[in-house]
Amino acid sequence: MDIKIYLNEKRKLVEETLEKLTLQAAGPFKNHIEAMRYSLFVGGKRVRPILCLAAGEAVKKCPATEKNLLPVACALECIHTYSLIHDDLPAMDNDDLRRGKPTNHTLYGEAGAILAGDSLLTFAFDLLSEPDYGTMHPEQQLKIIHLIARAAGPHGMVGGQALDIATENTEFPFSTLQTIHKNKTGALITCAVHAGAIGAGASPEQTASLVVYGDNIGLAFQIVDDLLNVTSTTEQLGKAAGSDANRGKATYPAFFGIEETRAKAKEAVARAISALKGFNHNADPLRALADYVYTRSN
Ligand code: IPE
Ligand code: IPE
Ligand code: MG
Ligand code: MG
Repeated sequence: MDIKIYLNEKRKLVEETLEKLTLQAAGPFKNHIEAMRYSLFVGGKRVRPILCLAAGEAVKKCPATEKNLLPVACALECIHTYSLIHDDLPAMDNDDLRRGKPTNHTLYGEAGAILAGDSLLTFAFDLLSEPDYGTMHPEQQLKIIHLIARAAGPHGMVGGQALDIATENTEFPFSTLQTIHKNKTGALITCAVHAGAIGAGASPEQTASLVVYGDNIGLAFQIVDDLLNVTSTTEQLGKAAGSDANRGKATYPAFFGIEETRAKAKEAVARAISALKGFNHNADPLRALADYVYTRSN
């Protein structure tokens, strides 16, 4: 399959749905909503929502599954975008460029960016808990909400971000780096796949395999992010290259060098693909996405 065509098609679908479901910048909170919309629509690969849809497709390929999962996919993108806005703040990674454009706080100020992030996170749970979307069973819906809350919070993404910041310019063992990567990036990626599985009615065995897939591409994704930070350019990435070394972040290349890091990313991708062996051709997009995570250039 041609992953570029698949990614473009699904990116378009996610962006159209985001446009439909998100707030319009009008009324007394116009500037605040504009700040939310700025980061949400300024670009982005939409990897997490696409993974959620592709996991659903691997389990049960049908229009109803996709329709049920679209609000979940959009909520994941809102949470991811909030995490980037806060990650770029001067008190965190202090970055000026994101998705090829000025970061949120450089345009809307620090308070504006903090609040835009807060609202994107909260709005995600507004979308997830909406009673009238599609035909998903309330029990599945609740399970997905719980899963995403877990993955985004102190036992997942935010916990990982806190450790990432706390360990800047310190020496620590590789196991700590694994904990950082598994949580700051892996948790939301695994949960995107897991939520897709649940929304499509996966069996416990299918769900377990998809979670192994998610854990491994989550890891590969952050390893490649570390690699690109060293090997690519700011123009190519749409965010500052070389920033990890400048801020004293521990990364895979810092531990292992470039070649071994590449090999480790490749191994994680192979483990992800091998976890899909019980699935038929409907899991081909997930297989191709695993390769894309390794070969991507931004
Ligand atoms: C960047 O995520 C931050 C990480 C968790 C590594 P993406 O590479 O998915 O960023 P966008 O959404 O495409 O901008
Ligand atoms: C971002 O991690 C992870 C989250 C925002 C949760 P990084 O700080 O390593 O990612 P980039 O390089 O800024 O995208
Ligand atoms: Mg960071
Ligand atoms: Mg950062």
